[in-house]
This record gives sequence, C-alpha cells and structure tokens, in this order.
Amino acid sequence: MIRGPIPLTPAQPPKPLIGITIDGTAVRVPAGSTILDGCNRLGIETPTLCFLESLTPVNACRVCVVEVEGSRVLVPACARRAEEGMVILTDSPRVRHSRKMVLEFLASSVDLSTAPDARRYCERYGADPERYGATRETVAQPVKIDNALYVRDYAKCILCYKCVEACGTDAQNTFAIAVAGRGFDARISTENDVPLPESSCVYCGNCIGVCPTGALMFKSEHDMRESGTWDESRQKKTDTICPYCGVGCTLTLHTQDNRIVKVTSPMDVSITHGNLCIKGRFGFEFVQNREG
Ligand code: SF4
Ligand code: SF4
Ligand code: FES
Repeated sequence: MIRGPIPLTPAQPPKPLIGITIDGTAVRVPAGSTILDGCNRLGIETPTLCFLESLTPVNACRVCVVEVEGSRVLVPACARRAEEGMVILTDSPRVRHSRKMVLEFLASSVDLSTAPDARRYCERYGADPERYGATRETVAQPVKIDNALYVRDYAKCILCYKCVEACGTDAQNTFAIAVAGRGFDARISTENDVPLPESSCVYCGNCIGVCPTGALMFKSEHDMRESGTWDESRQKKTDTICPYCGVGCTLTLHTQDNRIVKVTSPMDVSITHGNLCIKGRFGFEFVQNREG
C-alpha cells in the first residue's frame, strides 16, 4: 500500500505580545501567559509546589504569591494571567512574609524530610516552623504499604492535589484517588479508603512522578531508605527507550551499584510529559534478574 506523507500540524499564528513590569524590569510576554511565565522569562526564581507545566493549576499551596499593583490581595503567579500594563513585585516584604508563613504552616504540619525543594524554600524565606510547636499531627500515621510497587506516606503529604490531577483528567483518567474530608480532616484517599489493590489504580505511577514531597514513593526507594542504602550521590541517570511497546516512551533509569532503583520519565518530552504506564515505570526487574 502506498502511503501519503504524514500531515503536519497546521502552524499557529504567533500570539500578540503584552507588556508587563516585574520588579522594575519591563518584559513582553505572549498574551495568555501567566505571571510565572513572565518571571521565568526574566530568570526570577519563583517557589512553586502545586504547579507543574503539564497539570491544570489548582492554586492550592499559595507559595508562589506575588504583589500586583492595584490588587487588594496577593495573587498566585502560577495561575494568574498577565495583563497589559501589570506592575508586579515578587520580592516585596509582603510577598516574603506571606511565603514564609505558608512554608511555616506546611513544615509545622508535615514531614518534609524527602522534599528538597520545600526545604530549600524554607531556608530561603527563613521559615521557622518550630514556633508552632514541635508536634506534627499529620505525621502520626503509618506508611501505607499495601502493594509491591509503591508506598503512600501521607505524613509527608502537603495536599498539593498534583497526584489527584495526574490520576484524573490531566493524564491518566483513572480517578483512583481524590481528596476526601474537609478542613483538618482533608486527605488523599482511594474510594472508601480501600487498599490500592482493591481500588481502580492501574499502577501507572504517574502520581509518584508528580509528587513534590516523596509522600508517594517507589517501594524500592522506600526499602533502600529504610535500610540506609539509598544514596543519590552514587546514583546515575540514563535516558533510554522503553522496550515494551511501539509508543517508544523515554525512560530515565536511576541506577545505583549497577542496579535500577527507580524509573522516571523526562517532563520535556512532548509525547509523554513525564507520564508512563505500569510496564515502563515498574517493569524493570527483569533487567537485573541475572540468575535465569
Ligand atoms: S498509580 Fe496511576 S492509577 Fe494508581 S493512583 Fe497513581 S495515578 Fe492513579
Ligand atoms: S501525595 Fe504528593 S502529590 Fe499527592 S497531594 Fe500529597 S504531596 Fe501532593
Ligand atoms: S504553585 Fe502557585 S499556588 Fe501552588
């Protein structure tokens, strides 16, 4: 059969540019950009926890807030669209104070020991969670280990909603997890809080891929951390192509002592945006079965 050429995606007309000012510097960004896009364009590092390029913004963490001239309240840079003539401050005393408070609230209620970004932000803004007391209520719960592939440690969960979005319409469309409860009782849960093997989870692991705190973690990583053998300084990352099917997803193999210890996928690959299926994410054990 003679095939015709593969049709190309029609070119999009360029978006008109709008002018905004961030921290005194004028910058032009395409219409529809967020304030965060403008900050990135100027190289201003903005803390984010619930934001990810591949997910719909939910404005849950508020750590990215900035001051906009004429706005009574601080606005989330990750979701607020830039408007012509906007004047934005990203490092004013009000912004720094608010970010510090948000980080203190998080660090005073959640175990951030495996959340390097959040800990870096805490240091940057001088957050002192100890002033809210030494006990962290959410930490008083056991790790959920109910399957061989990944564990859920909600003592480390900051309720950023990323896993829920990845499991839902932003990637997997499986809806195995959601936010249950309200207020202090709010938590990520399977339907009726059943163990994962009894839920609709398909073990794609896309929730692990987006979790910013290590609350969702490969069982292999969890076990190595428990036994004190997890050592990122001795790990190597190698990109390769998944051997399981013709889609050809890019895998990043994390190896330590010549063994694969976990698998991720790069965010900047337009086909997968960091997402994988169960085979690519977890089906690596056969590589190191050297006894057969
Ligand atoms: S592994 Fe996949 S299907 Fe299961 S909860 Fe996570 S995102 Fe949902
Ligand atoms: S488990 Fe991770 S991704 Fe999900 S809400 Fe908690 S911190 Fe966010
Ligand atoms: S990163 Fe903007 S609200 Fe969380």
